[in-house]
Amino acid sequence: MYSYINKQIKEHFEQVGVPVPTTSDEFWQLIEQKYGNEKTEELSDIISRRGNDQIVDIYPLLYSSLDISIDFLSPHAGLYVDYLDWFLEQDFTPTVRMLDAACGNGFLTCFYAKIFPESEVIGIDNSSYAIECANEMAQRLKLQNVSFICMDLTGPEFLSLTGQFDIITAVTAFREAIGDPEHDFSRPLEEMLNNYLRHIRVEPLNKLATLLRPDTGLFISLERWPNIYDYCWWACALRNAGLRVDFNRSKDVSFRNLGGDEDERLQRMPLLMAGAGKQTELREDPFNIISFWLNARHEDAFEYIGYMGLHGGMADAAFAHINPKTFLMGVRAVHREIASIWRIELWQVGPFLLVFDYKNSESDRSLRILPSVKLKEAKALLDSFTKNLEKYALITKYESSESQWDLAQPSV
Ligand SMILES: C[S@@+](CC[C@H](N)C(=O)[O-])C[C@H]1O[C@@H](n2cnc3c(N)ncnc32)[C@H](O)[C@@H]1O
Repeated sequence: MYSYINKQIKEHFEQVGVPVPTTSDEFWQLIEQKYGNEKTEELSDIISRRGNDQIVDIYPLLYSSLDISIDFLSPHAGLYVDYLDWFLEQDFTPTVRMLDAACGNGFLTCFYAKIFPESEVIGIDNSSYAIECANEMAQRLKLQNVSFICMDLTGPEFLSLTGQFDIITAVTAFREAIGDPEHDFSRPLEEMLNNYLRHIRVEPLNKLATLLRPDTGLFISLERWPNIYDYCWWACALRNAGLRVDFNRSKDVSFRNLGGDEDERLQRMPLLMAGAGKQTELREDPFNIISFWLNARHEDAFEYIGYMGLHGGMADAAFAHINPKTFLMGVRAVHREIASIWRIELWQVGPFLLVFDYKNSESDRSLRILPSVKLKEAKALLDSFTKNLEKYALITKYESSESQWDLAQPSV
């Protein structure tokens, strides 16, 4: 597993000593060899009870020794690798102070401390067992710039915390700390979303936003929100706390469970990067929020522009009836010799973009549907259309839809 991963990530896994079993059976054999039968049964029992949605506190056992806590990182190795890969690709401005909320045994916190050696990194967690493990991990790794505090994210101590941080991370943290949201499924998504945008307030998130350095501070959230409703609720909570999600820098982390073969469905978790900067227009937010999810969850379907294309009369009929839509831009190419007009237009319908193209000389029309976060790619499509035709056609770009049905023969 370590052969293809980034060197810094690989080194961290090796230094911490996260084992690399490839199957679930291998993992449990290893646990049994190391900790004996009784402990293994205890661990397996508590994990399966929790997997069955029972409310059990697994942490006193999971963090009962640093070694056990490290071994139990390995089933989630894929998640950490994909997340840290993304983290290393980010162009962070020099980071002076960093906070890792719900840091667990400090595995990620210590990684941040390593890659930002000049920074002060603080991890907080409400489990005193976790904090003991985290302190021991920092000692083992001989890190001087990391410290840990036992603190409840929902408690008065966190709410009265002061100071400023350049980056705050929360990896599988808040869902545990605040619990799952409840939704009124008698309403359609759009109504739910508008309701959340108006009303959702998550107190610890509001607090967290005040801890970010103004303008430049970043909050990174990686939570296992299993469906679009939970995810939308969370995105609205972030927005209402004054945290503006940058959907271009956010992504879905994807990974397979330990022992999962190639055919097993990828697990996915939205990784959102938010800043404390200026908010976007409220009216754009529902579209951006939904569009990010569509794009992330349906990347195969949207893999290349045109995958969801419709053609001919079907394209025409769909385009005519998908309403209301807003015209964004268009390009018209008038062929110099054969007096044919070819147009390609970009429209927005809520969280989708429509790319519609048609010629006055033939019945073939095509309509492609993309998530609206793909605006850059859609614009590039218009640019390549222009480039391909400019050798033998007169190109005009237009910014209002007035001329859309003007298919009269051009005067050339
Ligand atoms: C799944 S672990 C994730 C640990 C770490 N972020 C990681 O990814 O390795 C969730 C952590 O959240 C902590 N936690 C749960 N509720 C919390 C709360 N209210 N305040 C602070 N930490 C909390 C737990 O103790 C646990 O260490």
